[in-house]
Amino acid sequence: MLVLVRHPLVQHKLSLMRDKRTGVKEFRELASEMAVLLAYEATRDLELEDIGLETPLESGFFPTLAGKKLALVAILRAGLVLAEALVNLIPAAKVGHIGLYRDPDSLEPVEYYAKLPQDIGERRVFLLDPMLATGGSVLKSISILKGAGAQAISLICILASPQGVELINRAAPDVEIVTASVDRGLDQHGYIVPGLGDAGDRLFGTR
Ligand code: PRP
Ligand code: URA
Repeated sequence: MLVLVRHPLVQHKLSLMRDKRTGVKEFRELASEMAVLLAYEATRDLELEDIGLETPLESGFFPTLAGKKLALVAILRAGLVLAEALVNLIPAAKVGHIGLYRDPDSLEPVEYYAKLPQDIGERRVFLLDPMLATGGSVLKSISILKGAGAQAISLICILASPQGVELINRAAPDVEIVTASVDRGLDQHGYIVPGLGDAGDRLFGTR
């Protein structure tokens, strides 16, 4: 399940993020804006229920979010910036964190932290990581989430590779992927090409 968000604002902001001249401050602002725009698409099927209220002029019934409660789960580090942006958009959501880093030689994800809402099984989960490269980190996170009882998971990522999409579609076909682009592929170091570089380093200024 893949949702490619082609909206002109999304594509424009993604190109600014790709530009190597874009500095840390602007890159982080763009990542936050992209998170909101991608979440707009990822949340399109949330259920609504009418509640009664009074406007300054009349009373009536109006739609509000209903149904499953929501959880935002950030894959550290880079997913943190997406979670911060989305918790402003969806303040009722609980926030979980999964700490992983990619071993630079094997490219395998190494887990160092996980803290999830206790009732994750009752929540619709939005898993947040700007980059889906080999797919190892997201697949590991899905396994941690499912191990904790999560049932409905959507991935929001800014950029994906064909290999990452293929892996998640094969290994976790129930997980929807919402992204702005599926790029050409991966280089020999597992970086997405043409890509935008190392998202964590560009978000936090660590290189
Ligand atoms: C990056 C990125 C993803 C992962 C993607 O994180 O934010 O989590 O790589 O790669 P994969 O699809 O091949 O697993 P990184 O491991 O660099 O850690 P960081 O966020 O702490 O910098
Ligand atoms: N992680 C990143 O931050 N960028 C990539 O291109 C691949 C993995």
